[in-house]
Amino acid sequence: MNSSIKKAVIPAAGLGTRFLPATKTIPKEMLPIVDQPTILYVVEECVRAGIEDIVLIAGRGKSSIEDFFDRSVELEETLERSGKTSLLSRIQRVRDLANVISIRQKEALGLGHAIYTSKPIVGNEPFAVLLGDEIMIPRSDDELTATEQLVNVFNKTDKSAVAVMPVEDENVHKYGIISHSAEQDGVYTVDNVIEKPSLDEAPSRLALPGRYVFTPKIFDFLKNTPPGKNGEIQLTDPMAQLAKDEGMSATVVTGRRFDAGDKLGYLMANIEMGLEHPEVGEGLKNYIKGLASQF
Ligand code: G1P
Repeated sequence: MNSSIKKAVIPAAGLGTRFLPATKTIPKEMLPIVDQPTILYVVEECVRAGIEDIVLIAGRGKSSIEDFFDRSVELEETLERSGKTSLLSRIQRVRDLANVISIRQKEALGLGHAIYTSKPIVGNEPFAVLLGDEIMIPRSDDELTATEQLVNVFNKTDKSAVAVMPVEDENVHKYGIISHSAEQDGVYTVDNVIEKPSLDEAPSRLALPGRYVFTPKIFDFLKNTPPGKNGEIQLTDPMAQLAKDEGMSATVVTGRRFDAGDKLGYLMANIEMGLEHPEVGEGLKNYIKGLASQF
């Protein structure tokens, strides 16, 4: 994809408490879906949308993510010597996929603060933000991921664009929720954004799954954002300001997505990707069939 957006910010400084104890020593971004860590699906989504520079906001204990995108000399030599060429090319592809630039968020003050940390690298240009909790895995080359959809909307409007998805009433409190006015060709005008509202306060059922394209103006608002919901510097508060100041669009995610930040969603992603995997797909299908017949 020919993209006007060249940089993406991926926050990866969270503690991964929902996956403890697994995440005590392994960053949640490195938990595998079959044989790929979740962060690789997110980076692949960026690359597919034409984004070349990935700004990783890391925290303590996250160096394995940086290592993952680096060259592993010993591993590559061993695979080469033992003639494992297809594995070798998979490994080489990962390190050549994109430029991963890592910066530390020194204090966990919230998502808004994490994004603000990227300002010296992002500079004065529009950029994407991808949260790794939701992962978007296209079924085919024709299916657009959320980031591709957002880049398309940004190219048309020159305004910030965010992905939304309809959620059930019981899930409203887990997400940022938008209020919107006009809708044209599946693109809404965002009027306001509220972080994790109660059902009564929620202005719609359209939630933010964690894919955004922002103009650099977001940094002006982020700079002065005080702690909001749960005492954290939120991203939704400056988003609401940006929407009022410059305008913002929202588009409903059309492709396949998994809530990999949640245990059940993570297992579902593993099952679906496992069923599509050339090595284990058939075996897993037979296993599930056998299992299902017992219920
Ligand atoms: C964050 C954002 C929220 C968004 C969600 C998507 O919340 O603050 O607006 O809807 O990610 O996963 P978190 O899940 O980090 O609490």
